[in-house]
Amino acid sequence: MRVGCPKEIKNHEYRVGLTPGSVREYVAHGHEVLVETGAGAGIGADDNAYRAAGAHIAKTAEEVFTRSDMIVKVKEPQPHEWVQLRDSQILYTYLHLAPDPDQTKGLMASGVTAVAYETVTDERGGLPLLAPMSEVAGRLAIQAGATALQKAHGGRGVLLGGVPGVLPGKVAVIGGGVVGLHAARMAAGLGADVSIIDRSIPRLRQLDDIFGGRVHTRYSTVEALEEECFSADLIIGAVLIPGAAAPKLVSREMLSGMKKGAVLVDVAIDQGGCFETSHATTHADPTYEVDGIIHYCVANMPGAVPVTSAHALNNATLHYGLALANRGLKALADEPHLRNGLNIHRGRITNRAVAEALGYEVTEAKSALAA
Ligand SMILES: NC(=O)c1ccc[n+]([C@@H]2O[C@H](COP(=O)([O-])OP(=O)(O)OC[C@H]3O[C@@H](n4cnc5c(N)ncnc54)[C@H](O)[C@@H]3O)[C@@H](O)[C@H]2O)c1
Repeated sequence: MRVGCPKEIKNHEYRVGLTPGSVREYVAHGHEVLVETGAGAGIGADDNAYRAAGAHIAKTAEEVFTRSDMIVKVKEPQPHEWVQLRDSQILYTYLHLAPDPDQTKGLMASGVTAVAYETVTDERGGLPLLAPMSEVAGRLAIQAGATALQKAHGGRGVLLGGVPGVLPGKVAVIGGGVVGLHAARMAAGLGADVSIIDRSIPRLRQLDDIFGGRVHTRYSTVEALEEECFSADLIIGAVLIPGAAAPKLVSREMLSGMKKGAVLVDVAIDQGGCFETSHATTHADPTYEVDGIIHYCVANMPGAVPVTSAHALNNATLHYGLALANRGLKALADEPHLRNGLNIHRGRITNRAVAEALGYEVTEAKSALAA
């Protein structure tokens, strides 16, 4: 199969669908890889690095779209990308179709077979192609929070690790899933005093085992949230109720009980945020203040570290990408977890949540593939 990787064109997107390391794997499996010139510039991989990995370099995105059997990307295709897709092609990328009727229509009209990273599943019921970005965001949340806590950035002026003779900063992590685990790990690594609050007791047990008593775990009640938030220097919002908007667990009223200059990092902002006072910000202007509390609410946190994020994403996407390249549509027919990633096939929507959100009829993926 000829696998194509265009340069990402969404604003401030520096990741790339295929790293040179991934290209080598596709080539080793007998595939031809076509990469648009400059596609890896954002992660420091120039055309020569791709050539050395065995790729051919295309001068334009058009050449990649015209000549490839499968397109591997990071972000959803933009309008002048989706018009270049066609019915014999596979598109493998993040799509997030439910809130995006125009893209959905465009992909349906193209006839492309669209596999969305965010709905591919694994045998443990997880979302393996979303998890690496949650790992990045969780770890980054502590770096961002620690910076915002510095006096010059509006924060309380607390060093999370403390120093001998001075207590460390206190970090409350609300939601102990993938983001929460990685935030807690970074905070504990810096020497902070860390609590994780979650509503799942089995998950709290697991976290207690993982940290061997190094972090406190608390069941999520209003009382526990108030106690933890009122004593914290840094609060990380990391809850998720799959398919729903994030619950508002910290109200504006609660801000008055917090320490002045405390920092809230709302990682769940991409689902609307779990603090009442959160609104999405950008890397260019990441923080704002409400009632003396600093808020950091960047919706695409992994974009700050494209080198790490692109490699983490490629590690996760490679296995399924190779299955698609090796066996084409047959891979989707044979592998139920990969098939869960199929959102659109030859004009039909095969993902129930997307169909329901946008008022389309859903076609079961297996029968759409068989048709
Ligand atoms: N801003 C970004 O750049 C970025 C990047 C990656 C992920 N995210 C977002 O971060 C959030 C967390 O993602 P994740 O991968 O860790 O999800 P996850 O499903 O692994 O974890 C969510 C956790 O929240 C807990 N939870 C749900 N309701 C709760 C409540 N009322 N009180 C306490 N805990 C509760 C769940 O039990 C679960 O353990 C999601 O909204 C995700 O979209 C944002």
